[in-house]
Amino acid sequence: MSTCEWNDRYSIGIVQIDEHHRHLFSLLNRLYNDFVNKIHGDSVTALFDELVDYATYHFSAEEYWMQESFFPHFEKHKEEHALFSRRVTDMHKDYHAGRRQISLELLTFLNDWLSAHILRSDAEFGRFITAGNFRI
Ligand SMILES: [Fe+2]
Repeated sequence: MSTCEWNDRYSIGIVQIDEHHRHLFSLLNRLYNDFVNKIHGDSVTALFDELVDYATYHFSAEEYWMQESFFPHFEKHKEEHALFSRRVTDMHKDYHAGRRQISLELLTFLNDWLSAHILRSDAEFGRFITAGNFRI
């Protein structure tokens, strides 16, 4: 798996959202480092909980800004968030119900989904906002 690092190509041109994405990548990167260093236990659990909570907060914020700016692809975008949230919620429940082990499959899913979603869907919102000079 490639590293879960933020890089400039993820910038969508909206400062608040870029900051959120940076924070998501930093949480994911810490989770990945713990996995690589075979660190388990409560600190990893707290990190995974924080990542899930922060993703929920971030999606709500993004959706709020999309509605406020009458973004035409809002419903489709919201559905992408919902599908991801359902999948992560299931993985999060399994984690708490089971051996509390982060897997490479989980990390890869989070990293791949986040990258693809930012580059395709969030970037589309970024272009919409910058083209219309709408400020969030
Ligand atoms: Fe999004």
